[in-house]
Amino acid sequence: MRLAMFASGTGSNVEAILQAVRSGTLEAEPALVFSDQPEAPVLEKARDYGIDTHTFKPRDFASKQHYEEELLQLLKQYHVDWVALAGYMRLLGPTLVTAYDQRIVNIHPSLLPAFPGLDAIGQALEAEVNETGVTIHYVDDGMDTGAVIRQETVPIAEGDMKDSLAKKVQSVEHRLYPQTLQQLLKDRSEGVHHK
Ligand code: GAR
Repeated sequence: MRLAMFASGTGSNVEAILQAVRSGTLEAEPALVFSDQPEAPVLEKARDYGIDTHTFKPRDFASKQHYEEELLQLLKQYHVDWVALAGYMRLLGPTLVTAYDQRIVNIHPSLLPAFPGLDAIGQALEAEVNETGVTIHYVDDGMDTGAVIRQETVPIAEGDMKDSLAKKVQSVEHRLYPQTLQQLLKDRSEGVHHK
């Protein structure tokens, strides 16, 4: 299974996925890393693992559809089977979602449907809840609305600030994302479909 990863920022989840591939716990072939942010640190991280990287900006295209058609070309060129979004801070449109229906997944730092969108960790602190978590879900063209594949709770301690909570959430993400991808790809190759 050839896997593309889309990311806009740091890339710690991309790194966790690449590390899992390297150690053999995730049986996938990383095809490429794409970023909509040419300066994103994720690009260098990917290159350190010997993975091809590509970047272009939506605003250089006439429309979102044109941008996604270019992305689709790239995915075809690399024979990509699955796409994992890892901190890709953009909504996907019908062009990509339709072409890769049920083969695009995302990780989000909350227990969806709670706290969708930006700054999910800040939203959880603001709401003064005592737990949040991580969700891995299929991507549709809504904002964090696709079917949930897996969730894990992260307790919020008294005194947790954004940094401390983000650290706890991310350490769950780095374990859960590669693990879930492995299960998903294995099950799908055996004909088992989640949701
Ligand atoms: C991750 O925590 C991911 O869950 C979140 O962005 C972070 C990216 O970190 N994604 C979203 O908020 C998507 N709505 P990373 O670049 O270090 O992997």
